[in-house]
Amino acid sequence: METRSFNILVLALLTVPFVLAMTGVQAQLSTDFYKNTCPNVESIVSQVVANKFQQTFVTAPATLRLLFHDCFVRGCDASVMLASPDSKAEKDHPDNLSLAGDGFDTVIKAKAALDQDARCKNQVSCADILALATRDVVVLTGGPNYTVELGRRDVRISTISSVQRHLPKPEFNLDQLNSMFAANGLTQRDMIALSGAHTLGFSHCSKFSKRIYNFSPGTKTTIDPALNRKYALQLRQMCPLKVDPRIAIDMDPTTPRIFDNAYFKNLQQGKGLLSSDQVLFTDQRSKATVDEFASNSTAFNQAFITAITKLGRVGVLTGRKGEIRIDCTRPN
Ligand code: HEM
Ligand SMILES: *[C@@H]1O[C@H](CO)[C@@H](O)[C@H](O)[C@H]1NC(C)=O
Ligand SMILES: *[C@@H]1O[C@H](CO)[C@@H](O)[C@H](O)[C@H]1NC(C)=O
Ligand SMILES: *[C@@H]1O[C@H](CO)[C@@H](O)[C@H](O)[C@H]1NC(C)=O
Repeated sequence: METRSFNILVLALLTVPFVLAMTGVQAQLSTDFYKNTCPNVESIVSQVVANKFQQTFVTAPATLRLLFHDCFVRGCDASVMLASPDSKAEKDHPDNLSLAGDGFDTVIKAKAALDQDARCKNQVSCADILALATRDVVVLTGGPNYTVELGRRDVRISTISSVQRHLPKPEFNLDQLNSMFAANGLTQRDMIALSGAHTLGFSHCSKFSKRIYNFSPGTKTTIDPALNRKYALQLRQMCPLKVDPRIAIDMDPTTPRIFDNAYFKNLQQGKGLLSSDQVLFTDQRSKATVDEFASNSTAFNQAFITAITKLGRVGVLTGRKGEIRIDCTRPN
């Protein structure tokens, strides 16, 4: 009897890690997830993204930023697409510089194209479409190509309230940036590489106006000393005190439409537009990585691929969790 219960105990103990491993496997993404259900998913999505990119360059930064926001708010589950019920009206408004509008539109158009394919209809999650479209815009703008892990499912509930709380602010210092990225399983090196996404796209003047007009209230220091003075004066011209709130400035003043490592070279010259950009160079703890990415684009590309792949795993719903949303803007 004693050996028997011992055997059962051993069996039970051996089963625990096995079951854990099984559930672990189930919770993982894979690169060939749609092999049987929608084998052409990658080419269908990239065709749509390429068409949209030809119509408007903003497709690239908007899609990239949308992925970041999606993954940081609850995980990469397309929650961001539900988060703003007014998004349609907003993005269609011609004067509205809600920069994410074209990102939403890219995913919606890719979803529509997938629905045209009998095999793919209602098979591919909005979260996966966004991950694929992001890779495509990175490649279209000259960035590195990489294999996208797939198998995410879409969340059922909308999360309007949690949006702002989980996103980094442009005034964040290195510790604040690190802790918010660490909470998502990302290292400082990942955070610096992902910040390289600011090689594309725009920022509204309000996000950095304090740095050029009102850095240290009550003193003579109106311009942030970390900011290149000549660049700061140019920014003042583009962003006068009574600026139209819709005006947006290239975040990479050198090659704003190319996904390259110019962002890091800019930081070395005091041309990081946001305080959270420049701090990566001024803080000694992150400076060496900025210098490395500035001088070695291969190192940046590799680190970016590692980091965006990790970003794409944050809080994903897999297996039987969540759903394949029929309309990316609404739960089924
Ligand atoms: C490190 C912390 C980060 C902060 C504080 C930050 C903050 C910002 C801010 C304030 C803007 C300008 C928004 C506006 O004025 O409308 C912006 C734009 C942008 N961000 Fe970030 N961001 C961060 C990280 C990231 C990451 C990790 C990515 C993607 C991987 C990303 C991608 C973008 C893109 C592409 C734009 C341009 C959007 C466009 O032109 O439509 N950002 N970010
Ligand atoms: C865009 O327009 C909507 C209303 O149409 C408004 O709520 C929103 O703040 C605007 N966004 C920007 C960035 O101006
Ligand atoms: C990018 O890589 C994927 C495989 O991971 C491949 O299918 C695709 O054709 C590549 N895209 C380009 C533009 O080279
Ligand atoms: C650039 O980075 C890559 C990848 O980390 C590395 O293999 C290579 O040696 C680096 N090149 C130089 C010149 O340091």
